[in-house]
Amino acid sequence: MRQMARIVVTAVLGLLLLVPAQGAQAAGQELWRECRVCHMVTAPDGTVLERGGRSAPNLYGIAGRPAGADPGFRRYSEAMQAAGRDGLVWTRENFVDYLRNTDAFLSRFSGDPDTRGHMNASLGEGAGALFDYLESLSR
Ligand code: HEC
Repeated sequence: MRQMARIVVTAVLGLLLLVPAQGAQAAGQELWRECRVCHMVTAPDGTVLERGGRSAPNLYGIAGRPAGADPGFRRYSEAMQAAGRDGLVWTRENFVDYLRNTDAFLSRFSGDPDTRGHMNASLGEGAGALFDYLESLSR
């Protein structure tokens, strides 16, 4: 009986740990809708992980990738290319900041208030969960 109770407790604890993780994953996946008009996620072997448009860089492996580094995308702004050359890497923090206001982020990075990028979209809430989701796709 005691053994049984222990199994039940372990199972319940396991579930409690699992549910929030899956909730965050689902929240991140849900937000992908905001990006897929322009972006897709395609692995180097051609496997499509998230369908989407081709008017923006492939976000496969974006976690830890230098800015402006999708070799298949040829329409990066001057500002994004400069940021990449200056060492900008997509960490969770940078990603969240960029999505809040892309031009403000690039301006802060370049030090020039007139800096403009090519992404006409933003995301206030949930960008961190979205980053985690994209990172999980690229593992
Ligand atoms: C209207 C089209 C559009 C939408 C919607 C859009 N993006 Fe973008 N995104 C772009 C373009 C174009 C660029 C290239 C920006 C530049 O060169 O300045 C870009 C660049 C990026 C980059 C930098 C990529 C790199 O290779 O350095 C990230 C990260 C990014 N977008 C994330 C997102 C996420 C996450 C969403 C959804 C919340 C999103 N974008 C929605 C068009 C879009």
